[in-house]
Amino acid sequence: MQHEAIPEIQAATTLEALQTVKTKYVGKSGLVTRELGTLGKLPPEERKTRGAEINAVRQAIQEALDTRETTLKREALDAQLASEAIDVTLPGLPLPAGGLHPINRVYDDLTGIYERLGYTVVEGPEVEDEHHNFEALNVPWYHPARDLQDTFWLEDGRLLRTHTSPMQIRYMVDHEPDLKIVVRGKVYRYEATDATHESMFHQLEGLVVGDHINMADLKGTIAEMARGLYGPGAKVRFQPSYYPFVEPGADFAVYWDNPRGESKWLELGGCGMVHPNVFKAVDDLREAQGKERVYEGKTGFAFGLGPERIAMLKYKIPDIRYFYANDPRVIGQFRGELE
Ligand code: PHE
Repeated sequence: MQHEAIPEIQAATTLEALQTVKTKYVGKSGLVTRELGTLGKLPPEERKTRGAEINAVRQAIQEALDTRETTLKREALDAQLASEAIDVTLPGLPLPAGGLHPINRVYDDLTGIYERLGYTVVEGPEVEDEHHNFEALNVPWYHPARDLQDTFWLEDGRLLRTHTSPMQIRYMVDHEPDLKIVVRGKVYRYEATDATHESMFHQLEGLVVGDHINMADLKGTIAEMARGLYGPGAKVRFQPSYYPFVEPGADFAVYWDNPRGESKWLELGGCGMVHPNVFKAVDDLREAQGKERVYEGKTGFAFGLGPERIAMLKYKIPDIRYFYANDPRVIGQFRGELE
């Protein structure tokens, strides 16, 4: 029996096959077990030798089973380790790298220029109240300028800010003069969209307040920004314009020469000298918070511009809606460095 069992054990290539052989020979009703059961029928003098013989066979089979089991288990483990092995020397899979959105690139250019001029860069809430967005900026409810900026109203009476100018108010309420800030952030207008209009876009707002700040300081600052953007040859142009929170007010444009010969006037934004009513509204808010009135009698200038216009020209993006459509074919072109 041993002669049959041993080759069968060797031939078992899986633990399940080995278990079958084990059951066949040494299981509860296996061949060897049954053979032991027949001992009782033998005459007593034969029992001892026969019993010893069968036990020897049983032991030999059991040893062979144990050895084979150890081998099979190791083989299974080796196979598993081999299949799960990681070759750390293989080259990695390429990870798609992100990049800065074109608007953020332009913002970084702009805030870099202003930081070098000593300005502080701040941000503020996109959900505003009527007072900060209009009232405190010298735009009373009956004022026609409210029609110029169609507003997204929230159900609770608040609104999505239509410009970054409310941050002029917030910053002055919290800080005393002198101050120089630029505000970056999103603004919202409820209007039809086309290639040059989006219902959400961005602004960069500037505010300088101190003593004896005048229109020449404002013009010099805008000119410095234009040179920072377009080089020493850039020129600026100011045209009278109207914004309730400045007096006088102006629109400004930048003329820039570039190597591709696309020189042109680029209408960039609005600006002006801070209206005395704005300083008064700030002092009223400060007073209500138990703070000192420190703005009346001060002078300052403010400006606001749209980075989208700069980005569209710089990166030759023909439609403002491309910026926010999240089409990877557009945004994917701004991976890594791009100058
Ligand atoms: N807030 C104005 C706008 O959104 C721009 C502006 C800012 C004009 C500051 C003058 C001074 O159109």
